[in-house]
Amino acid sequence: MGLVAISVLIVSLLAAGLALLLVVAERFIANYGSCEIEINKDKKFTVEGGQPLLSMLVNEKIFIPSACGGRGTCGYCKVKVTEGGGLILPTETPFLTKQEQEEGIRLSCQIKIRNNLKIEIPQELLRVKEYQCICTRIEDLTYDMKRFRFELKNPPQIEYIPGQYMQLLCPPYKGSPEEVYRAYSIASDPAQKHIVDLIIRRVSNGICTTWCFEYLKEGDSVRMNGPYGDFRLSDSDAPMVFVAGGSGMAPFVSILHHMEHTGNSRKVKYFYGGNQVRDLCLDEEMKRFEKALAGFEYIPVVVEPAQGESWEGQRGLVTEAVQRAYSDLSGHEGYLCGSPGMIDAATKVLTAMGMNKERVYYDKFA
Ligand SMILES: Cc1cc2nc3c(=O)[nH]c(=O)nc-3n(C[C@H](O)[C@H](O)[C@H](O)COP(=O)(O)OP(=O)(O)OC[C@H]3O[C@@H](n4cnc5c(N)ncnc54)[C@H](O)[C@@H]3O)c2cc1C
Ligand code: FES
Repeated sequence: MGLVAISVLIVSLLAAGLALLLVVAERFIANYGSCEIEINKDKKFTVEGGQPLLSMLVNEKIFIPSACGGRGTCGYCKVKVTEGGGLILPTETPFLTKQEQEEGIRLSCQIKIRNNLKIEIPQELLRVKEYQCICTRIEDLTYDMKRFRFELKNPPQIEYIPGQYMQLLCPPYKGSPEEVYRAYSIASDPAQKHIVDLIIRRVSNGICTTWCFEYLKEGDSVRMNGPYGDFRLSDSDAPMVFVAGGSGMAPFVSILHHMEHTGNSRKVKYFYGGNQVRDLCLDEEMKRFEKALAGFEYIPVVVEPAQGESWEGQRGLVTEAVQRAYSDLSGHEGYLCGSPGMIDAATKVLTAMGMNKERVYYDKFA
């Protein structure tokens, strides 16, 4: 037993030593020199090798969706590499279908530039812009959610499809030495083209949310890029079920404004869930939408009100409230936004009630 433990220890130490050696060699010895990146057989630029492709593209003001900020956990930062990408890494394979792998699709945050590269990026991403903004208002929505208003300065206006998101640049600050980008759904009225509102929920020890809650002040300049994403209303007239929790409220605010401006009378029931009453927000705004939109009904749901909280509304999980509200969801569309766990649970319930899986649209705040 003792011998086995010692052998395991020795092997572990050897492996750790080898890994350390590789990191040191990569950092201080490897010199890849200048490498040329060619995009869409058109634009070319030269970079110093050794850096992730995603960062080099950002330096050139080419913005690829990168919701996890390059940690390799969102799988959003796909580009097609036609030459020079090397082998697909194990960190990429969970996010790439077999067909994508055959087509040369790669995660740009995982590719380290070691030689010349040829890549292809969809034209619509080349139209994504960076916006210089001023934070003009910070408003408490709940104990852990704030709404941040940003006025766009350069360029001064934005066009987006309600439901889309931006990537906010969190600058280096005490405790976080590097710039990081994080994805936030646009929560403003799309008719106000000079404004982007974001509803942000604080994540314990989160890099960007700590910065937003503790460092960002009204009057500060910030940078963001976008818009990104496919989450949006379909152009059918099918009745809809919206389901959200926490900051998953954000894209629905934008979508509801848009429905109001376009006189959209589609039937919608919006189930917004919180653990306690203190988790819910924007009640007044939702009641105003109920008056403005003929087909819209807002249904806040609380799992279990805390002691002393008064609550007349529905209780339980949002999914239970959906089950109480409908007997059959065939012919309906589902729009879900919030944590991956909530979205997976809601998708199961909606499809079990007859909703076509193809008609369940969601944005996971992963
Ligand atoms: C399309 C999309 C839209 C979104 N829209 C919104 C929105 O409108 N509002 C909103 O509030 N959020 C939204 N999000 C989530 C948002 O992008 C961030 O993920 C969230 O705000 C947390 O960011 P953070 O930098 O504060 O936390 P992070 O620093 O990313 O940390 C997140 C969690 O991971 C842990 N962690 C950090 N680093 C590591 C590590 N190396 N290894 C293991 N664990 C680690 C942290 O402790 C924390 O618990 C959206 C996400 C997506 C993908
Ligand atoms: S940026 Fe998230 S996986 Fe690459």
